[in-house]
Amino acid sequence: MSEETIPPKAITITNQKGGTGKTTLTALLAYSLASKGYNVLILDLDPQAHLSSLFLKISEIENVNDGTFHMAKGLKFEIRKINLQSIRGKLGLVPSGLNYVINVYRGELPAWDPFAIYKRISREPAITKEYDFVLCDTPPELFPPTMWGLYAADYIIIPSNMEELSLAGLKLLLKEVLPEVLMVRGSHNLRVLGVALINVTRHFRQKTFDDLNTAITKFIKDSLPSVIARNVFEKPLFNTIIHRNSELTDLVYRPRRWELPLDRVLRSETSLRLEVDSLREEILSRIDNFKGLM
Ligand SMILES: Nc1ncnc2c1ncn2[C@@H]1O[C@H](COP(=O)(O)OP(=O)(O)O)[C@@H](O)[C@H]1O
Ligand SMILES: [Mg+2]
Repeated sequence: MSEETIPPKAITITNQKGGTGKTTLTALLAYSLASKGYNVLILDLDPQAHLSSLFLKISEIENVNDGTFHMAKGLKFEIRKINLQSIRGKLGLVPSGLNYVINVYRGELPAWDPFAIYKRISREPAITKEYDFVLCDTPPELFPPTMWGLYAADYIIIPSNMEELSLAGLKLLLKEVLPEVLMVRGSHNLRVLGVALINVTRHFRQKTFDDLNTAITKFIKDSLPSVIARNVFEKPLFNTIIHRNSELTDLVYRPRRWELPLDRVLRSETSLRLEVDSLREEILSRIDNFKGLM
């Protein structure tokens, strides 16, 4: 589907609270977009490397010398081709490495440049000519790798479960972080496509959903300047919920078998697959018809 003239759309999946479903959602969406025929590049910006571990053997991520931190340093990076059974598009991964945890510990992060990743994904022909979407999985906390993801994004998706801490993380992001990112980026549009509920029980009621949508809308309108609010989609919650699903429980922590776990979980028409594809369609439609909150 790639056309040379259209640069890839960068979508960053973020919430500075850990365990909110960032990595799981990134993997699910990458698979779903690629199964529709899009060429999708995934960037794992988290030194915990959970996302990379869904696609590569642990021995391959123990010591990475051409992954996302190298990319951010302006060094050579390598896009790993991921071959999954039932996808039509191309799926590529720039991994994180477990050695990056040591880089962080030793203060060896690349010099602070919030645009470190943006520069690479907007300029490298191997990305701009080959991919329709770049999906960035970010770490929890607000340290440079998270900020690289925010500054690289055309669009942001915020996963949240129904835990209070997860929802608080979402508020913090909207109120304290996004205004700053938007200000520094100036005219470069950054749009919050929505909050994706994930890992929510099936007993979740429509009324709770509606109340939450109203509360988030009110929070944004009351506490954010309109220049920010108009970059948040008018109905903050995506209608599609990725419910709690035993196939996803601890997906990233399970011992690897011969199969890629994502393929096993998504290749047939399960209820999970339908949810993920439905969320994908909502995302594509919000990108095409963006309507801000104010
Ligand atoms: N829909 C779901 N059903 C069951 N478990 C889930 C679901 N979504 C996420 N999880 C689990 O929740 C935990 C946190 O998810 P993860 O994607 O690693 O979050 P984050 O990247 O934000 O830290 C993981 O153990 C993951 O397997
Ligand atoms: Mg994660």
